[in-house]
Amino acid sequence: MEQLSSYLCRYKNYNFAVGVTTAEYIDSLQSFEIRDSDVFLVTYPKSGTIWTQRIITCLYDLEEERAEERAEEPNTLERMPWLEYREGRSDYALRPSPRLFASHLTPALMPPGLKDKKAKIIYVMRNPKDTLVSYYHFCCAWAQLETPSCFQDFMEQFLAGNVGAESWFDHIREWHSKRDQYNILFLSYEDMILDLKTAVTKICRFLGKNLDKGAVEQVVEKSTFKNMKQDPKANYKFLPSEIMKGDFMRKGKIGDWKNMFTVAQSERFDQIFQQRMMDTPVRFIWDSTGTS
Ligand code: PPS
Repeated sequence: MEQLSSYLCRYKNYNFAVGVTTAEYIDSLQSFEIRDSDVFLVTYPKSGTIWTQRIITCLYDLEEERAEERAEEPNTLERMPWLEYREGRSDYALRPSPRLFASHLTPALMPPGLKDKKAKIIYVMRNPKDTLVSYYHFCCAWAQLETPSCFQDFMEQFLAGNVGAESWFDHIREWHSKRDQYNILFLSYEDMILDLKTAVTKICRFLGKNLDKGAVEQVVEKSTFKNMKQDPKANYKFLPSEIMKGDFMRKGKIGDWKNMFTVAQSERFDQIFQQRMMDTPVRFIWDSTGTS
């Protein structure tokens, strides 16, 4: 891996936090055996990962009637770990089915067996201005990432793709343009905010789960921002406070970027967004009135 800074290293066009994984492990994903029952949640950072993890794990726990037992587990990561970080866990090949994974990786780094279109991928995207603001606050709070000197600098890094993962533009474009190669459901963070019940129902259907209305209501209730904000697991409180300073569940809103961007920053962002995204059909909701 090429060291980019004390915090980031680059491998195969992807920026990893230093020390969290190895080139050998990332390469090994090319021969990672996919099972038909595998489910992968893929996101660009700060796009609703922990939220969708909550929904997916709740749906499985309810179906398996293991909700109470699972509530005792210390965190969601044991149940739905990151594909790219093993973090001392035993070999993923030894995990029982159905295996649930989260990932921020690009299509090129994912196991090729996903192209058999049997295993399922849920891709959640979020408008990039809110993603950037959430990412900025996260970098200020998360000890393993460089604390930005100011919002303007961080915005330039984000636009250039010099942040953990890769360029937001490339991530969305790569996954969306390759969508026909996978069994994939695209969702947006904003649609989830505007109508959580419909989003949960869509996920439920995509995963082939046959839960009644009451069960869907329960999943909705467990995954509201209000309830998750009070949940130490969702706030990564199981980690030492030196690693995560503050709450992971921050605001959970559409349009918080308006509190952070100056007019000039917003105009510059829009210009680059137009250039980079004009030939993709993906549309975003930029504020809570649903303006796209
Ligand atoms: S990470 O670090 O990439 O895994 O972060 P990720 O989980 O993708 O994104 C964190 C943001 O998602 C918000 N969030 C929610 N919003 C609405 N409702 C619910 N239930 C919810 N759960 C998490 C979280 O607050 C972060 O967004 P910001 O804008 O910072 O509040």
